[in-house]
Amino acid sequence: MFITFEGGDGTGKSSHATRVVEWLRGLGHEVVQTREPGGTELGQQLRNIVLHGPDDLSDRAEALIFAADRAHHIQSLVRPALERGAIVVQDRYLDSSIVYQGRGRGLGAQQIRDLSIWAADGLMPDLTVLLDLKPEIAMQRMRTGRGRLDRLESLGLEFHLNVREQFLKLAREEPERIHVVDADRPERLVSDEIRGLVEAKLEELQQA
Ligand code: TYD
Repeated sequence: MFITFEGGDGTGKSSHATRVVEWLRGLGHEVVQTREPGGTELGQQLRNIVLHGPDDLSDRAEALIFAADRAHHIQSLVRPALERGAIVVQDRYLDSSIVYQGRGRGLGAQQIRDLSIWAADGLMPDLTVLLDLKPEIAMQRMRTGRGRLDRLESLGLEFHLNVREQFLKLAREEPERIHVVDADRPERLVSDEIRGLVEAKLEELQQA
């Protein structure tokens, strides 16, 4: 089973991913926790370029770096894990590219979707958890939680308002796969809801 977490910056994806991973491991499953960009050694280098690289990095170059990271990551880490029966829990995947590069940067959602699917050789998540939170609150959390913002985080409120809208639009387009979880609630409630979604999907896959 391949689970991805999506949502704007500062919505709590990585902490909720970690909670799900710990819970699944407790049930005895082999779980691989990973992320994009940067889930591999090469990916770490690409992550550094794309998040802290030159100010004049073009939007198309940015999109291709995310795609290169994805191609390598899926082929070298994610697919082998899925093939041996592990559950993969991943922070961000192709929906981030569609939203940030396709719609945020205006490169075209369909083109970026096609590029991502080509890069990943067709691999789609079984379940995508979309953590939804007002960017005003998310950005506040980021400022208090960490230091310097990266290239994408520092794009300003309007960009991030659009990112949120576009994620919600994707969820309406693919309601079977993408589940919206309201992240503006106590962590406990959010993680209980996520757990329920994962449990339901596990059962569904076991019956299939
Ligand atoms: P992430 O690792 O989630 O950031 P952090 O750990 O700092 O919260 O993602 C880094 C940034 O990369 C984030 O702003 C979203 C962006 N991104 C894209 O623009 N396109 C993509 O395809 C991916 C995977 C991430």
